[in-house]
Amino acid sequence: MANILPIRRAGDPVLREKARRVRRPDDSISKIIEDMWVTMYDAPGVGLAAPQVGIPLKIVVIHVPDHEPFALLNPEIVKRSGERQVDEGCLSVPGFRGEIQRSLKVLVKGMDPVTGKEVRIRAENDLLAECLEHEIDHINGILYIDYLDGPDALVPLEDAPEGQE
Ligand code: NI
Repeated sequence: MANILPIRRAGDPVLREKARRVRRPDDSISKIIEDMWVTMYDAPGVGLAAPQVGIPLKIVVIHVPDHEPFALLNPEIVKRSGERQVDEGCLSVPGFRGEIQRSLKVLVKGMDPVTGKEVRIRAENDLLAECLEHEIDHINGILYIDYLDGPDALVPLEDAPEGQE
């Protein structure tokens, strides 16, 4: 049975670690992914990285509108290009959003959590592109607030969050 795990907040050192690579998919990895899904949907959020539940492994789960939900092991950016301004939020920084720069296009590669084979994902100018960069930042110890111009750039959330990562 899957468990909802507590989400770590900014200030927790696990969010600043560089997560370790997963060697191959196995039952323990599948269990972590199941727990991450129920934790993400409970939050609710559109993406979650394993360090956010205190597990310093390179595992992310993403479910954004208009795309099938997917989990990815060892995701990394292969190519990024262009720039755009996005309004971003994070489950580890609850109650706030902030405007930052993200890439226009990204190409990501990672390992399929079932087959262990390499998969590649392309995204352009959408929430998927933003979310891929956001979650890959998480497994490298980076939070979106690192990109803000200053503490004033962090804006309190007034409405219900539409896409927390
Ligand atoms: Ni986040």
